[in-house]
Amino acid sequence: MGKKQHYKITVNGKEEEFLAEPRELLIYTLRERLNITGPHIGCDTSHCGACTVTIDGKSVKSCTMFVAQADGKDITTIEGIGGPDNLHPLQTAFKEHHGLQCGYCTPGMITRAKKLLEENPNPTEEEIRFGMAGNICRCTGYQNIVKSIRAAAAEMNAAKEAAE
Ligand code: FES
Ligand code: FES
Repeated sequence: MGKKQHYKITVNGKEEEFLAEPRELLIYTLRERLNITGPHIGCDTSHCGACTVTIDGKSVKSCTMFVAQADGKDITTIEGIGGPDNLHPLQTAFKEHHGLQCGYCTPGMITRAKKLLEENPNPTEEEIRFGMAGNICRCTGYQNIVKSIRAAAAEMNAAKEAAE
């Protein structure tokens, strides 16, 4: 067992302090230590993207990062994007356009899609497929995921225009 170190991270706006072995994977810190279970574990090869979170403004597969590397960082998970009482437009669109079936990939999909739309608010289908290539879904065939992201983009752009 390695020596435990003191770490401080901010998750969904809440500061968390704890002792952990530096090599603990961030996905386990989130799920098992902090009980933030939105990010899922879908593989052990850093391929599936089910564990995607946003760290200091970048999409990161949290199974690829040690907790030591996350020290001092600002992390957003699906729980920080929206919940049952305040769905994000992406969550509403995935629900309305059947962008999910089993839902296992969905927290990572939506977390990644949110970042994608921040970087490119009006993406083409090809840009969505390229931007989402690190997130794998075993159920939907992707068609409805793309449709959901396009619908959310339209909704968010219309809301932005109305507010201007
Ligand atoms: S669990 Fe992280 S990429 Fe699959
Ligand atoms: S909805 Fe089942 S893995 Fe994507």
